[in-house]
Amino acid sequence: MGGSTGWTTAFVTQVTDAACSELTRTFGAKKTELVWKSGGQAIDELERVIHAEHIECDFMRCPAYIFAHDEKALETLHVEEGLARSYGAKVEIDDASLGFSTPGYLRVEQQAKFHPVKFLTALAEKTAALGAKFFEQTKVLGYSGSSPCIVKTQKGEVRAQQVVLATYMPEGDPDVISTRITAYQTYVLEAKLPSGTLAEAIYWDTLKPYHYFRVDRLPTHDRLILGGEDHKTGQSSDPKAHLANLENFLKYLLPNIKYEIVRTWSGEILETIDGLPYIGPSLSNRHVLMATGFSGNGMTFGVLSAMILRDEVLGRENATMKLYRTSRLNGGWNYMMRGLNFMVQALKGRLENSSSVLKDIRHDDGAIVELKGKKVAVYKDAQGNVHKLSPVCTHLKCIVEWNGAGKTWDCPCHGSRYKKDGDVLNGPASKPLEKLD
Ligand code: FES
Repeated sequence: MGGSTGWTTAFVTQVTDAACSELTRTFGAKKTELVWKSGGQAIDELERVIHAEHIECDFMRCPAYIFAHDEKALETLHVEEGLARSYGAKVEIDDASLGFSTPGYLRVEQQAKFHPVKFLTALAEKTAALGAKFFEQTKVLGYSGSSPCIVKTQKGEVRAQQVVLATYMPEGDPDVISTRITAYQTYVLEAKLPSGTLAEAIYWDTLKPYHYFRVDRLPTHDRLILGGEDHKTGQSSDPKAHLANLENFLKYLLPNIKYEIVRTWSGEILETIDGLPYIGPSLSNRHVLMATGFSGNGMTFGVLSAMILRDEVLGRENATMKLYRTSRLNGGWNYMMRGLNFMVQALKGRLENSSSVLKDIRHDDGAIVELKGKKVAVYKDAQGNVHKLSPVCTHLKCIVEWNGAGKTWDCPCHGSRYKKDGDVLNGPASKPLEKLD
């Protein structure tokens, strides 16, 4: 809960990052309609559980506003409106003021927002009371077998008929799923706004990279959580500049409003080659189930995954199971581009010299430096102590980059992220960076 779920902006929307027109081209109209409907069912299910279990987690139904940055983008939104309507969506183009400058926007009804950590904390307590067991801080070392599967951990073995890999990037990288996924870094800031500055809702724009924000009404002020400025993980020469860009975007959005930025952070988003997540059994072991590649729709697809995998385990029919199967083979071009990206990044990491110098690294910062002719990942802690790691990613040996915004070591090949001490934060890597003396 303290990882990606804690960092999310918790938009709950059935509007996917891949546009309706894009999904229709890839999957056809019938399946795209199913994507739309299954997203709506996931939101309904989340709301049902929250009400049935009396969970206080700030859940609120609200509209989503997709606002155009120029007239051309507004034309594209008109096309999306027509398609979404044909799939039964309640959407409408409008140009009434939203409180900031835009030529118009698509309003999508009945979306939602909530506090995911409050939700999960309450859910964990309730399921534990029913007999579920949670083993936090227990690293999984591997799993094998099928009937039963044996999961090896630092503290013992667990046997189960089915194993669900709800580990963001699936632990152990079954079916080499990481080759069909690209990891992006996204940047987020929280700001205090005067009460009533903007309507309480979720918003995003049509720029590339895009910006997204939610507004929450609090007793003394409004809270704005703004994200965006995404780039491929490990492929930015200056991650801190993305946070600065985000702050500039806020100035541009609300030029006459006094606000206070309270905190900033960065998170990771996983995009698949065809725009939809992979949910279902692994091809190599049908007793191992996974769910990954949620793009910017982690909350909606997370709930949808729970519904699909529940039915899979119970042997129930679920109309959407086939659509999200991990075996589908769309996005061939994107798959090739990911392969090419891997080769380019692997070579770049090996051949490029580092320009950073050990003495210039500031406290609580890091860099790749050359020491005795070898690349070393160096982190200097708040007291100035130097910690050295091998920069070789333990997944497929690309060279990691320092992310000064997130204080992590990020791999440009398949998006593994490591904490400053080298421990794995996000896979596909499962082993830490090697510590050097
Ligand atoms: Fe694959 Fe680093 S994540 S080489």
